[in-house]
Amino acid sequence: MYSFFNNQFLPAEKTVVHVSDLAVQRGYGIFDFFKAVNGKVPFMDDYFDRFYRSAALMQLPVSLTREELQKVVHELLHRNGQADAGIKMVLTGGYSPDGYEIATPNLIITQQALPMPSAKIMEQGVKIITHEFRREMPLIKSINYTTGVWLQHKVKEANAYDVLYHLNGEVSEFPRCNLFVVKENGAVVTPAAHVLEGITRKNILSMAAINVLPAPVTLTDLLCAREAFLTSTTKRVVPIVQVNDVRIGSGKPGPVVQQVLSKLIAQERAA
Ligand SMILES: Cc1ncc(COP(=O)(O)O)c(C=O)c1O
Repeated sequence: MYSFFNNQFLPAEKTVVHVSDLAVQRGYGIFDFFKAVNGKVPFMDDYFDRFYRSAALMQLPVSLTREELQKVVHELLHRNGQADAGIKMVLTGGYSPDGYEIATPNLIITQQALPMPSAKIMEQGVKIITHEFRREMPLIKSINYTTGVWLQHKVKEANAYDVLYHLNGEVSEFPRCNLFVVKENGAVVTPAAHVLEGITRKNILSMAAINVLPAPVTLTDLLCAREAFLTSTTKRVVPIVQVNDVRIGSGKPGPVVQQVLSKLIAQERAA
């Protein structure tokens, strides 16, 4: 497998950054992640918009133009000969002389196999747990997942699938996914603020047939919901049937999540 490092393609195992990089020293950097389906990248412009926006917000200049970077991604897919894959583009804080000041960013693009959620997960739905936390800069796709990584032991202990962040009674997002809730009254909502603007979330918001409203969502809304599900590029949608010890809706995946899944697949094929 090949990777791309700053201005060249390298064998993946030879793609390394120096220990002085601010990503290593201070966890400073951004990334984006998207998938290739049949050699094409659905919604590439959306992912690139977010990558350049995160970079600008973190004061990290990108050495390649958007067109150059898109060419690199296509070349990488071609070289690796893997038509279905996940692509990760990381932009680090660079080799900082004093270990604190932003330097010239390093750009690293890697490709990896991309497993989708199993049929069992989609048929049965999952349990999630909750944790009081809010990401520091929610609009930025930062490489800093400290809380999410740290919470993995709690997720495993609870025999859960993931952990949802909430603060002051309001829920926001998962470490790597967005949340959707079908409320008691049938309204479909997704937290409007304090979240990463997921591309899957954006695609669901654009579905005329679903009519989702971005709005504040409380823990109570979630616990009393008819249905809930999480969304991301890697997972598409996963039905949530239990939150901590509380059963959600009928305790089985509902009709809205099924409808969203089939529409997402159709959108991907059409993109
Ligand atoms: C914090 C956070 N929220 C939501 C998402 C889902 O975004 P997307 O649908 O673009 O994969 C991610 C993706 O990694 C994320 O890191």
